[in-house]
Amino acid sequence: MPGNNAQFDLGLVGLGVMGRNFILNLADHGYRVAGHDKDPAQTAALEREGSEDRVRSFTSVKEFTSVLRKPRAVMMLVPAGKPVDSVIADLLPELEPGDIIIDGGNSHFTDTNKRVTELGKNGIHLLGVGISGGVEGARKGPSIMPGGDRRAYARVQEMFEKASAHVNGEPCVIYLGTGSAGHYVKMIHNGIEYGLMQLIAESYDLLKRGGGLDDDELHEIYREWNHGVLNSYLVEITAHIFSQSDPKSSERLIDRILDEARQKGTGKWTSQDAMDIQVPVMTIDAAVAQRHMSALKDERIVAEQLLHGPERTIEGQAPSFVNRVHDALHFAFIVTFAQGMSQLSAASREYSYDLKLADIAKIWRGGCIIRAAMLDEIRNAWTRSKGLPNILLDRTFAEELDRTQAAAREVAALAVTHGIPVAALLGAVSYYDSYRSGWLPANLVQAQRDYFGSHTYERVDEKGSFHTQWQKLNN
Ligand code: 6PG
Repeated sequence: MPGNNAQFDLGLVGLGVMGRNFILNLADHGYRVAGHDKDPAQTAALEREGSEDRVRSFTSVKEFTSVLRKPRAVMMLVPAGKPVDSVIADLLPELEPGDIIIDGGNSHFTDTNKRVTELGKNGIHLLGVGISGGVEGARKGPSIMPGGDRRAYARVQEMFEKASAHVNGEPCVIYLGTGSAGHYVKMIHNGIEYGLMQLIAESYDLLKRGGGLDDDELHEIYREWNHGVLNSYLVEITAHIFSQSDPKSSERLIDRILDEARQKGTGKWTSQDAMDIQVPVMTIDAAVAQRHMSALKDERIVAEQLLHGPERTIEGQAPSFVNRVHDALHFAFIVTFAQGMSQLSAASREYSYDLKLADIAKIWRGGCIIRAAMLDEIRNAWTRSKGLPNILLDRTFAEELDRTQAAAREVAALAVTHGIPVAALLGAVSYYDSYRSGWLPANLVQAQRDYFGSHTYERVDEKGSFHTQWQKLNN
């Protein structure tokens, strides 16, 4: 029930635009929310924007925590890393056993695990909650990925359900699992986000440098694509980006933006943990690597003069070329979701999260950056078969991939022939071909390992480990 006494239902620390917007969102649903920030400019901004009875802000932690309904629920929306620990240190003296701290930022899941244990010693619950949707999502309804103690979650469940995005009446939030489950799921969300963004960027390169299309044409193409199977937030904003003019020049803004992509690191964490738990996520790896490649701007400019390649123009292809790029992107989107979701499956076993993948697909359908029409079918795939190891093994997706694979291959081949870099698309095609390959040349890798390091190998026709005295080279 929204607060019906003088106390506040939730406290929120970090009154940047995200924090303020989330508070206003909750207030719209009848909740009373107190905000805290050490910066008086931020508290003043909230006081200006919020309605008097439902929203108050405090620069003093003591006053802030004293107005909260018990057990207190205090949400932090501050940058990951040190700021999270410093807010916790400020809050701790004012909290008491049973109170709940909610970390709504992109904290690394291992940090969340440590904090859950440390705070648990004081009887304080930490909920690690991934929130996606940017500043607009925070205001209008984000996708919320909560993890931690289930009973502590019950204290904020209704608030989160009201404030989250809704798709067909279903809230885009559900309890995901204990410990760092929520932050892990958000990390994978961001890994998929990196993959989809890089794939769209590669399709843009193919259409721009390969197909010679201008910004108006690109705007139209992505706008049209967003009305079909590629319907998604990222394709939608891409269409808008091409029509945005630059107030400082007569050009489109996109053509004045430096081609060096920055990152806060969540995509990289996805790849790093995929390596740790041995899950292949080639498209996501390629997306991270291409951000790093983009940052080598100075070297790339020198290399452009020295290293030669073919003419980048792909002649005489449109409009069938545009259609094939569309199908290739569709193919690669499916494969990228497959990689992220298979990492979730593996992590669920490795870290005992007990994740329900159909639930995750469900809460990603609205509010978040990777929301896409295909998530409905991904949800269906896991509803049909809970133990499905990978959506590539679902008949509906297998048929979709079969329909689009020729285009993905053709576009990838054209890109290679014309020297247009498509690392993420190639990652998707390689993943598909490796995954559907009942035999891989890993037997040779095993033989080499045994040859130089006596690492042993297994046989196809007999159980056990074997080592061979290989006939070594005589010069
Ligand atoms: C979201 C975004 C959000 C943020 C990323 C950007 O889901 O709302 O993913 O979390 O925009 O941190 O990440 P990079 O700076 O690493 O690109």
